[in-house]
Amino acid sequence: MRTMGLSLGLVLLCLLCTGAEDLGAVELDMSKIAGKWYITAMATDSESYLQKKDQLKMAMTSIEVLGDGDLNVSFAIPTPGQCMRLVSIYKPTGVLGQYYSSDRGYKTAQVVDTDGKTYAVVFATRVKDGKTLHALRLYSKTREVSPRMAVLFRKLARQRSFTNDMIVMLPTQDECSLDEV
Ligand SMILES: *[C@@H]1O[C@H](CO)[C@@H](O)[C@H](O)[C@H]1NC(C)=O
Repeated sequence: MRTMGLSLGLVLLCLLCTGAEDLGAVELDMSKIAGKWYITAMATDSESYLQKKDQLKMAMTSIEVLGDGDLNVSFAIPTPGQCMRLVSIYKPTGVLGQYYSSDRGYKTAQVVDTDGKTYAVVFATRVKDGKTLHALRLYSKTREVSPRMAVLFRKLARQRSFTNDMIVMLPTQDECSLDEV
């Protein structure tokens, strides 16, 4: 009886996830997301990003879990001509693995898959000019993305309705990192 209650609980928990593929988020231990990551691939429906797709390069992010469960997230994003360094505080939304920030417009980020060590796949939204833009990002511990990882990322992107021409594997760069912050 007790085991039945337990599995029922797990089933119910699972119904709360946003999809069968999001099981990773349920068991998420945020301390495993902490640390430095390379943003090695991206899928986006933002026209302005897609227009400069060929100029986009690998970005870096560093995530710190604060005492109250908020995330302190630093980014180093190479854009043509400059290295943009940003810090945002993300707060839990109440959905497992999902966070929001309203520092520079309303944004959400949700970890949808991770092995807790080498990669994490993050689904992000942001509101721009009254429109909600969506992106899926691959966070990797190393600059190299294994072919297996690339296949997994493309599969997760397609499941979220991103087409192949919305997916960018980002080339490495040396000019813009978090280290000088
Ligand atoms: C967030 O991280 C940045 C960069 O490491 C740091 O300067 C800032 O003080 C941190 N903010 C909080 C609230 O911990």
